[in-house]
Amino acid sequence: KNNIQIAIDGPAAAGKSTIAKLAAEELGYTYIDTGAMYRAITYKAIERDIDLENEEALTQLLLETKIDLRPSVNGQLVFLDGEDVSDAIRSNIVTSSVSAVAAHATLREEMVKRQLKMAESGGVVMDGRDIGTHVLVDAELKIFMSASVDERAKRRQLDNERRGIDSHVEQLKKEIAERDKMDSERQASPLVQAKDAIYLDTTELSIMEAAQHIIQLAKERM
Ligand code: C5P
Repeated sequence: KNNIQIAIDGPAAAGKSTIAKLAAEELGYTYIDTGAMYRAITYKAIERDIDLENEEALTQLLLETKIDLRPSVNGQLVFLDGEDVSDAIRSNIVTSSVSAVAAHATLREEMVKRQLKMAESGGVVMDGRDIGTHVLVDAELKIFMSASVDERAKRRQLDNERRGIDSHVEQLKKEIAERDKMDSERQASPLVQAKDAIYLDTTELSIMEAAQHIIQLAKERM
């Protein structure tokens, strides 16, 4: 069997998307960044001035919204109703609001439906918070990826610099910890390591090393 499913979960800024993207490329698999989907609907809700606590309104909004993830040379582009929002969904306001939106159960149900459809073609690397526990529950390989908060804040800082977003490490540390807390403590599919997931600490690993490790584990399961 050549086309397996790889689920990668973990806290914010652990390097999931960068590493998952690399591994997917190397394996010739489809990469699906589910965080980008939650970010996209959050962006739209903010634009429309919708109350982020209003589960019904947000779920209705999602039902009327098209979110496309398209592969590109430097990763993945995100289209919201046909508009490229790849950069806009990384803004501070979206980052600090997304966990509130992602906490709603009915909105998550619709997201999971879409994610399952995207994974139908087989040969996927999907990253998020609930992929191993709720989305790709039968994935052949599940990884729970983490790194120290210091390291994660440093990485996010570099990321932001590259994107031209102003930020400070201490502030980032606070934001990351807050988001992890919200994502871990919510009722609807909280961030938690799946029983059958392999724990991967990337604090001391380069992006390449972490990707190679995942590729190795994937090959053992093909
Ligand atoms: O991965 P990223 O940091 O872009 O995810 C943004 C937010 O989207 C997370 O903090 C979380 O609240 C939400 N999320 C989620 N379930 C997923 C992916 C992301 O709840 N599968």
